Amino acid sequence: MMIDAARIESLLSELSVPVGRPLTAVALTGSTNDDARRAAEEGAPHGACIIADAQTCGRGRHGRAWHSPAGENIYLSMLIFPRRAVADLPPLALAMGVAVARVVDALLLTPRAAIKWPNDVYVDARKIGGVLVETTTVGGAARVVVGVGLNVKTEHFPPDLAGTATSLRIAGADALQREPIAASLITRMGEAAARFDEAGLEPFIAELSARDFLRGRQVRVDDLEGVAAGIDTRGCLAVRDESGVMHTLSAGEVAWR
Ligand code: BTN
Repeated sequence: MMIDAARIESLLSELSVPVGRPLTAVALTGSTNDDARRAAEEGAPHGACIIADAQTCGRGRHGRAWHSPAGENIYLSMLIFPRRAVADLPPLALAMGVAVARVVDALLLTPRAAIKWPNDVYVDARKIGGVLVETTTVGGAARVVVGVGLNVKTEHFPPDLAGTATSLRIAGADALQREPIAASLITRMGEAAARFDEAGLEPFIAELSARDFLRGRQVRVDDLEGVAAGIDTRGCLAVRDESGVMHTLSAGEVAWR
């Protein structure tokens, strides 16, 4: 059944959540991130959300496809108009990762969600969700689209994802109705956006450290091999190489073992 926008909106109203309205739900779209960017161009306000039942061109970082079958999962984009300078915004993805991880933990009833730098949410060493932050500027001011994909009901992933992806269902959650999950996500994302706008990544650092999937693991980023050693307040990943030299990475794709 198509996701019920009215139910999400009434849950948000009951809790007086200051974001998530207007909420546009669509049965099928290319990418909710593209829809949200277009909505911003047409005057949509801070906090406006687009949610889709299915996407034909859902995407993740590095132009990868995001598995977006109909009726199973959450594909959500929120518009954020931060007051912060554009240069300060890259760590916002980590703050949003914390927001998603909190929703996942609440559904799994235990603290199991980890964050794999820079934008993945993991459970049981598999990816359950991802955050895609896309920023444009208009007259020097940032317009940010935060896209979140959260695997809710999928039981069988396609072969290329089968060994690395998971869902709330696979992880054992009982409450799999997408509307309350979407309302919780919107609530947490709104809180994270406001906190990040006030104080940057600093208020998230302790939780990020507790949820840091890579910390202490052997990692490879491009030509660099070493042990992940934490995330700093600029959102950079520290990696100690084999000769003990510390490297600070602001971007990259991390392979781990
Ligand atoms: C990643 O893991 O690299 C990020 C995945 C983000 C997927 C979501 S689904 C909703 C929104 N629309 C998209 O096309 N992508 C994001």
